[in-house]
Amino acid sequence: MSDTDNSRRTFLALAAAVPSALAMTGIASAQTEEATTPTTTQRVAVVTGSSRGIGAATALRLARDGYDVTVNYLTNRDLAAQVVRDIEAAGGRAIFRQANVADPVAVKALFDANDEAFGGVDVVINNAGIMNVGPFAQMTDEAFDRMMATNVKGSFNVLREAARRVRDGGRIISLSSSIIKTPPPATAAYAATKAAQVLYSSVLAKELAGRNISVNSVAPGAVDTQLLRQHGEEALRGIPEQTPLGRLGQPDDIASVIALLCSKDGAWIDAQNVFANGGLG
Ligand SMILES: NC(=O)c1ccc[n+]([C@@H]2O[C@H](COP(=O)([O-])OP(=O)(O)OC[C@H]3O[C@@H](n4cnc5c(N)ncnc54)[C@H](OP(=O)(O)O)[C@@H]3O)[C@@H](O)[C@H]2O)c1
Repeated sequence: MSDTDNSRRTFLALAAAVPSALAMTGIASAQTEEATTPTTTQRVAVVTGSSRGIGAATALRLARDGYDVTVNYLTNRDLAAQVVRDIEAAGGRAIFRQANVADPVAVKALFDANDEAFGGVDVVINNAGIMNVGPFAQMTDEAFDRMMATNVKGSFNVLREAARRVRDGGRIISLSSSIIKTPPPATAAYAATKAAQVLYSSVLAKELAGRNISVNSVAPGAVDTQLLRQHGEEALRGIPEQTPLGRLGQPDDIASVIALLCSKDGAWIDAQNVFANGGLG
């Protein structure tokens, strides 16, 4: 064991005795602010961007399906803590940890925190993402670069840790988007970042061949979350009418598909992009 590992363990032991120090790390039970007891018997999921939206619904669903869960957030600490409280209230176990997926050091620390708490990882949901839109002529460098850093580089950072750590028999799932089928004007850069998820999954599935790890992407249609609502009511207008199943998607609709891919029933699905959009597009 390295000096770094030893120092981390010492720090965690000290932090467990000093709740206020632990609270600063984000590695804590939202109920008790105490360290979760390590175990290797449970199956474990890391869900990036799970303080709200599809990620939060997925964290809750996987916990209900028996996984210990590491919840990740960028800025909304209170929401992440609430997801952990909800999991614990339902009898599950979870920790939460701040990490910007665009930062490889932070992503490594996120997975280290998960391993410290739960002893390893079986499922990685590469969900954290942002949507900046604008026509080619008006898109700013800042909006483009931030989205690339989060969605393309960030996903790469997460999938690299997943490739290094997911145990045999595991699952790795990235969030693509149905927008890649017929992207409307002003969505070129976002659609490109979501197309990248399909390619990442296809390549990683081959790299992990022989270990019974499936790697897929899920491509939601329009789902009622902040990601769309930040662009105003206009972003949602007309979608239920254009959708054969007649409504906007809800985060649980996507969490169900992810849960299927993680279940035994989804075991034969590998290197695929699964569209889940109520028939839209
Ligand atoms: N909603 C849709 O219609 C839709 C459709 C197709 C695909 N998707 C994809 O589904 C995924 C989830 O979308 P959503 O609608 O649930 O989004 P959302 O409600 O906006 O939630 C985004 C989540 O990602 C986190 N996040 C953002 N940037 C991050 C970063 N740099 N590092 C770590 N976490 C970060 C946020 O944390 P904070 O709360 O701390 O900010 C939040 O937990 C995205 O990849 C999106 O592209 C969504």
